[in-house]
Order: sequence, then structure tokens, then C-alpha cells
Amino acid sequence: MAHFVINGGHRLEGSVTIGGAKNAAVAIIPAVILAGESCVVENLPQIEDVRILEQILRHMGADVDFTPDGAMRVDPKGINTNTVTFDMVSRLRASYYLLGAMLGRYGHAEIALPGGCSIGQRPIDQHIKGMRALGADVVIERGVVKAHAKKLVGAEIYLDVVSVGATINIMLAAVGAQGQTIISNAAKEPHVVDVANFLNMMGASVKGAGTDVIRILGGRKLHGCTYAIIPDQIEAGTFMIAAAATHGDVVINNVIPTHLEAISAKLMESGAQVIEGDDGRDFFIRVSSNSRARAVNIKTLPYPGFPTDLQQPMMAYLSTAQGNSFVVENIFEDRFNHVAELQRMGANITLNARTAMIEGVAQLSGAPLFATDLRAGAALIVAALAAEGQSQVHNIGYIDRGYEFFEQKLRALGADIKRVE
Ligand code: UD1
Repeated sequence: MAHFVINGGHRLEGSVTIGGAKNAAVAIIPAVILAGESCVVENLPQIEDVRILEQILRHMGADVDFTPDGAMRVDPKGINTNTVTFDMVSRLRASYYLLGAMLGRYGHAEIALPGGCSIGQRPIDQHIKGMRALGADVVIERGVVKAHAKKLVGAEIYLDVVSVGATINIMLAAVGAQGQTIISNAAKEPHVVDVANFLNMMGASVKGAGTDVIRILGGRKLHGCTYAIIPDQIEAGTFMIAAAATHGDVVINNVIPTHLEAISAKLMESGAQVIEGDDGRDFFIRVSSNSRARAVNIKTLPYPGFPTDLQQPMMAYLSTAQGNSFVVENIFEDRFNHVAELQRMGANITLNARTAMIEGVAQLSGAPLFATDLRAGAALIVAALAAEGQSQVHNIGYIDRGYEFFEQKLRALGADIKRVE
């Protein structure tokens, strides 16, 4: 199996360009099914999750190709099945978006329950509650969610937990329902807004995305469109943290700074310099640091709070901060798999339920490391880049799911990282 070999201790310097948002891409690609016509999706990240979705759609009968400038053109007209098997979805957590899209378009979907990162229980009860409210019969049999509706009708749906996946999935199904759907206590993440914008570009009526009440007027005739995905907030945040962790100076291009406010605030609190700018073409963020970080406390929260997806890289950074940092993980109960790996590098971390206390040490040392999920993998890379000596990061399939050209981008910034097959 491939792994990364990283010789730590090199400052990251220079500039890096961020790709399209993974979490928007994995929803927007299935959403093309709703259009019933060909759509072109631009600014797609070149990651494994997108390649898996491409294969799933092809397997279902859709026509998928790429324009000369790398955009994906999906024509869903040839889709000839309502069933997506476990073999197809086992490596893709977000395959559940096929459920909302297919139910909205065809009134029927059978999707094997997804695989993906193991960071907690990750139930889908809120997705199912929403689809039932729209009039679908939903059952889970032998690991397959089966949803069927003679007719979907708009409904008022209150989410018991703020869930990105449920918000988007219900939005997709509601576009195919007759009349108005109101989702209350909706997630406000940037990719929720991006999916809503895409649906509106196809002719849907989705209002209020980005607030906690979303109104969808379903049943409109949709059409094909061309749409560019927003930049990836989490990829950008990972590079921001890596820049600070290596006492580097990095300009991160193609970002939306308002999406990154929680990360910028915490990095500045830790003593790093963060400057937002506009070069006339794109917004950028420049992160630099020339001294040891100060300890800071983090609580993960739904957007606009500190994102759970950056909790793990942030803990790698705080492992060498001066003082004690407290990190509270409020979204996923088991998102501390990276801690044992950081401890093997010399980090001093005590876990108590959802709270980690990090007593900063002066330096981490390189070690053989094992990624247990996507963002744990990113955390280990950040730690290895900043550490003294060599690390080998294994299980990098997780990292490939969500970071495009990660080692190439890091190498261009001066990191000593190579992929060994
Ligand atoms: C999405 C992101 C993931 C991010 C997470 C939180 C995608 C593809 N993935 O995951 O990167 O870490 O948001 O920002 O966009 N929950 C329920 N019942 C449900 C659904 C969720 O109890 O039906 C709970 C979850 O267990 C979790 C919380 O709600 O505690 C938030 O999960 P959710 O926002 O749904 O995460 P995902 O959409 O899976």
C-alpha cells in the first residue's frame, strides 16, 4: 500500500491554490439527476470521492465525460436503475445524496448504506424523517435504504440535530415534491448554500440557504446548467494550519475568507499572522508565524462555529503550543482517533469523553503513523511536517478521498514529502 514519507522541520513558504469543495461536489454531482438534462460542473476537486461518484453514475447508465478544461459533464438521461449496491458505495460516505436526488426525480431509490470515515455513529435518522415527512415510505433492509413514494408533497420539517447531510438530502428530495417544504434548524454550512445555488441554477426555487430556515418550492420543471463549485474551506483551513505549524509564510489563493473566519480567529489568537486580501482575480489569505504558538481553546460547532473537520489538524498544531489547550468535540463523539498517533510523536494529550487537554511540548518527533480517517490523516501530515525527523504516514487512501494533489501542493511549498508505492 502507498504511504507518505515526510522529513519534517521545513518551513512552508510560497503560494498554493485551493480546489473545489469536496462536500459541495459530492452533493452537486448526484443533484444533476434532478435536472434530467446534461449539466456541467466546474471547479471540481480531483479527489477519490469524485472519481467514485463518477463511476457510480456511469454504472447507473449516465453519460459522464470531461470538457477540455477539466469540468465534468453529466448527462443523466440514460440512467436505467434505481438501485445502488454496497460495492458501489462502500468507499463513499456521501453516497446518501443519491437517495434524495433519485427519490426527488424518480420517486424511488434503493441505496446501500454508506461507508466512509469512522468518526462516530453517523446515523441518518434525520434524512429518513425528512423523506417520510415528504410522503415517502422508507425502510432499511439488509443494509439498504429503500425509499418509495407515489407522490412527494412538500412538508414542514424540523431537524432534531443540525445536520449538513440531512439538510441537503431533504432539499434534494423536496425539489421533486409538489408544493412548499420548510426545513427548520437547517445546517448553514457554505456547501449547503452552494447546493441551493446549483439547484436554483437548474430552475428550482430554494430560498434561505445559509440561514436556519430553508424554503423549497418543489415541482418546478428543471433544466441543465453550468455551475462552478465554491473553493474548499477545509482544504484551505488545513493549509492555513500547516503554514502556522511549520512557522511558515503561505499565501492561500482561491478562498472565500468569510468561510474561514473561525480558523483565522483561532490562528491569530495563537499568535500567527493572518491577512486577507484580494489580488483582483481571487481572494486570498496569507498565514505566517515566526514564534511558538500560544495555547488556545477550541469547541467544534456547526457553521459558523469552528468546523469539526479542522479539529484534528488544529490539535496537531496545538501539540507544540506554549501552555494547555482544551479542545471540545461537539459534533462527532469518536473524532479523536488521531490522538494515539500524536502521542506516539511525543504529544502530551489527555482525553476525557469529548474533551482533549493538550499540554504543549516543545517539539514532536517523527514516527510511523496510521491515518484512521480523512481529517485524522490531514492532522498527521501537519504534525509530521512540523516534527523533527522522519515520519511515514500509512492508510493514505483516506487522505486521497478529500485532498487533491496534496503532496504536490505541499512539495511546491518546500515540504519534504514523497509518496512511496
Ligand atoms: C458533513 C460533512 C463532514 C462534516 C460534517 C459536520 C459532507 C459530505 N460531510 O457530514 O465533512 O464533518 O458534515 O460538519 O458534507 N446526525 C444525526 N442524525 C442524522 C444525521 C446526523 O444524529 O440523520 C448527527 C451526526 O451523528 C453528527 C451531527 O448530526 O453528530 C452532524 O452530522 P452531519 O452534519 O449530518 O454530518 P454529515 O453530513 O455526515
